[in-house]
Amino acid sequence: MFELETGRLHLREFTLDDVPALVALDSDPEVMRYIGRGVTYTPDQTEAAVHRMLEHYRRHGYGMYALVYKPEDVVIGRCGFKFWEELGRVEIGWLVARAYWGQGLAYEAAQPVMAYGFEQQNFSEIIAIIDRPNLASSKLAEKLGMRFERELDFGYKTPDCYRIDRAEFFRRKVF
Ligand SMILES: CC(C)(COP(=O)(O)OP(=O)(O)OC[C@H]1O[C@@H](n2cnc3c(N)ncnc32)[C@H](O)[C@@H]1OP(=O)(O)O)[C@@H](O)C(=O)NCCC(=O)NCCS
Repeated sequence: MFELETGRLHLREFTLDDVPALVALDSDPEVMRYIGRGVTYTPDQTEAAVHRMLEHYRRHGYGMYALVYKPEDVVIGRCGFKFWEELGRVEIGWLVARAYWGQGLAYEAAQPVMAYGFEQQNFSEIIAIIDRPNLASSKLAEKLGMRFERELDFGYKTPDCYRIDRAEFFRRKVF
């Protein structure tokens, strides 16, 4: 079972008890602007998404994790992995509630999550899929050592693909 502690965050797998916290995140248009088609989810869509996350843990042994903000003991976001069957690649994703933006929390979560991916899951590479105007996200990817690889074509949008491979991760790592 995945568990990870940082200074301000406890990271763990989601459960169905987290649906209300995720409904609050997924219904915020500012938070959802660059996620998927850029539209908010209904509570039913969020609940379906949680079921997909639980299935993803079962199928792959890893997935998207809850960010519990320790000072308040509340779920303020998510960070983790999604395996894209059609690309055959592992994506790292991140999302933080608007009230908590700009405090370094996404980086605080994403850095150990990336390390977990390379060190415990033995990924050969990790990608991030980012809409070009999403500067907070591309900045975060670059801060994690990811570099622009190419533009992807999803039909309805053409996001940028960022990438870091195993060798680059271990080269950057300060022991
Ligand atoms: C992307 C997101 C997770 C960043 O969360 P955060 O906790 O505010 O990010 P951090 O504070 O850890 O900042 C990481 C870096 O990005 C920079 N950054 C943050 N917001 C920024 C903004 N709006 N514009 C430019 N840079 C920004 C920070 O300055 C920091 O870099 P620095 O340390 O060199 O200054 C958050 O904006 C979010 O949840 N957005 C909505 C969901 C989303 O778009 N997810 C990604 C889909 S690809």
